[in-house]
Amino acid sequence: MHHTTPQAELTRRLRAAGCVFAEDEARLLSETARDAAELARMTARRIAGHPLEHVLGWAEFAGLRIAVDPGVFVPRRRTEFLVRCAAAGAPGPADAVLVDLCCGTGAVGAALLAALGGRGELHAADLDPAAVRCARRNLPVPGDHVHRGDLFAALPDRLRGRIDVLTANVPYVPTADIPFLPPEARDHEPRPALDGGPDGLALLRRVAAAAPDWLAPGGTLLTETSSRQAAAAARILADAGLETAVSTDPELSATVLTGRRPRPR
Ligand SMILES: C[S@@+](CC[C@H](N)C(=O)[O-])C[C@H]1O[C@@H](n2cnc3c(N)ncnc32)[C@H](O)[C@@H]1O
Repeated sequence: MHHTTPQAELTRRLRAAGCVFAEDEARLLSETARDAAELARMTARRIAGHPLEHVLGWAEFAGLRIAVDPGVFVPRRRTEFLVRCAAAGAPGPADAVLVDLCCGTGAVGAALLAALGGRGELHAADLDPAAVRCARRNLPVPGDHVHRGDLFAALPDRLRGRIDVLTANVPYVPTADIPFLPPEARDHEPRPALDGGPDGLALLRRVAAAAPDWLAPGGTLLTETSSRQAAAAARILADAGLETAVSTDPELSATVLTGRRPRPR
């Protein structure tokens, strides 16, 4: 007679539903569920196509466990490169001002603060109230440092001209490409978290136009893009008067643009 363990049976069901990393997912689901009933509910949601991170309620990002609420953009491993670039360029003083626009879960800000050993005054902001709630859970900063609103309009005016490190993982998928995204993103992540307008660069244009006014002299804007969009995106930053560079990490297939506000001579 052939016996299967519950874990092997769970793996088989996930694989049949099209989960590529079925064995890992089975383990994560079993470890996260508090009892059999919860495991059954979680498995059903996963099989119905919800992103694993929404089902688990968390994602691993830069070695941190980030809470991911349903309907909030799932932080991608690729974005760890944005954090690495931001940490490498961050100034030394403990009172450096760090801002994460389009913060989603707050993963970028949380990982940046961790990489800097907790140094710096971090603010995060997003337009979506669900993202703001989620970021408040993830960020070890006062609740009033997590703001809701449209790009820079969310920030307190006292930060104008004072931001040393400005991360903004803006949505950058061209509208016409959205139907071709994996269903997990297309069907379960909010459209405004993905849609970057006709050429995918609409939000970046708005961020770049306002960034020189909000950055401190010598402060840097960092943003993720795709390799296909990198040249056009770099031109947008340069046209805004920022000293622009493109960095890539082939292993994560990540492209990051940095734009520095020049210091006055
Ligand atoms: C690609 S997700 C990035 C989330 C997070 N930074 C990350 O890397 O996981 C983009 C985020 O931008 C937010 N967003 C879209 N339009 C916005 C706007 N006009 N102002 C502020 N946030 C916006 C979305 O709600 C979403 O959370």
